[in-house]
Amino acid sequence: MKLFYDAWYRFGSPPWVGGPRSELVELVSSGRLTPGRALDLGCGEGDNAIFLAQHGFTVTALDFAPSAIAKARRKARTAGVEVELLVDDLTDLRHVNGQFDLLVDYGTLDDLGGRDRDVYIREVLPLAAPGSQFLLWCFEWDLRRWERIVKSILPFGNLALAPGEAERRLGRFFEVDRVDGESDLPTWPGGWAAYLMPEGSIRRRTSTPQEYQRDGRWPAVLGPSVQAMTGAIAASWLGEVVHNALSLPAAVLLGPETLGPGAVSVGR
Ligand SMILES: C[S@@+](CC[C@H](N)C(=O)[O-])C[C@H]1O[C@@H](n2cnc3c(N)ncnc32)[C@H](O)[C@@H]1O
Repeated sequence: MKLFYDAWYRFGSPPWVGGPRSELVELVSSGRLTPGRALDLGCGEGDNAIFLAQHGFTVTALDFAPSAIAKARRKARTAGVEVELLVDDLTDLRHVNGQFDLLVDYGTLDDLGGRDRDVYIREVLPLAAPGSQFLLWCFEWDLRRWERIVKSILPFGNLALAPGEAERRLGRFFEVDRVDGESDLPTWPGGWAAYLMPEGSIRRRTSTPQEYQRDGRWPAVLGPSVQAMTGAIAASWLGEVVHNALSLPAAVLLGPETLGPGAVSVGR
C-alpha cells in the first residue's frame, strides 16, 4: 500500500489532488469549524492542510508516503503558510504528539483493511480532546461480490466503509453526524459520506481510548460483566450436570425418597 501510494505521488498525480475539499471549505466558511489545532490524517499533497493554515488553524498533517509529504512541503512553501508535515503511519504513529481541536480524514480510513481500521482508531483517539471535532470523508457502500474479489487481488487495503460502520466504530467516542453523502449510486463508486463528529464526552465515560486499547472492540464496562455473566451461567450448568449425574444412579438404586427435596424424578 505504502509503496503503491508513494510511487503514485512520485510519478503521477492521483485524481483526488486538486484543492481543498468542498465540505471542508463549506464548514470553515460557515463558521461551523473555527480555528484551533488541526490534524490532517493521510494528507496526501496537503491541499486541505494548506487551506486550514490559510484560515487561521495551526496545522499538523501526516501521510505515510514520503513523496506526498515532499510535494505538500513544496505546496505549503509556495502558498506561504506554515504546516507541520510528518511522514507517519496511522497504524503505528511515532511522530505526532498532543491533542487537536480538529481531526480531518479525507479518504484514509476507508482505505484500510478491517483490522487496520481498529488500529487506526486506537492510534487516533488519544489525539482527540474533549470538545474536538472529527471530520471524516469516506466512500461508503456495501461492496458487491465482484468488488470483494477485486479487492482481495489488488494491493489495496479496502475500498469503502459499509453503511453504518462509521457509527459502529466511532459512535462510542464521537457523536456521529452525517452531514453529507450519496447512497446506492448506480455508478461506481457506489456512495460516499461526510461525517462531522464532535467528541462525545458523555459516551467516553463508559469507554475511554485506553479501555478501547485494552479491550479491543468491546467497551471495557461490558467486558468484565459479560465475562462474569458467562462464568455464572457455565458454573450453574456444570453444577446441574454434576448434580444429575450423581442423583440419577442414586435414585435408581435407592428410590427418590432417599434423596430429599430437589432430587431428580425417575418417572415412578
Ligand atoms: C485517497 S488519498 C487522500 C489524500 C488526501 N486526504 C486528500 O484528500 O487529498 C488517501 C491518503 O492516505 C494515505 N494513507 C493511506 N494509509 C495510510 C496510513 N496507514 N498512514 C498514513 N497515511 C496513509 C495515502 O498515502 C494517501 O495519501
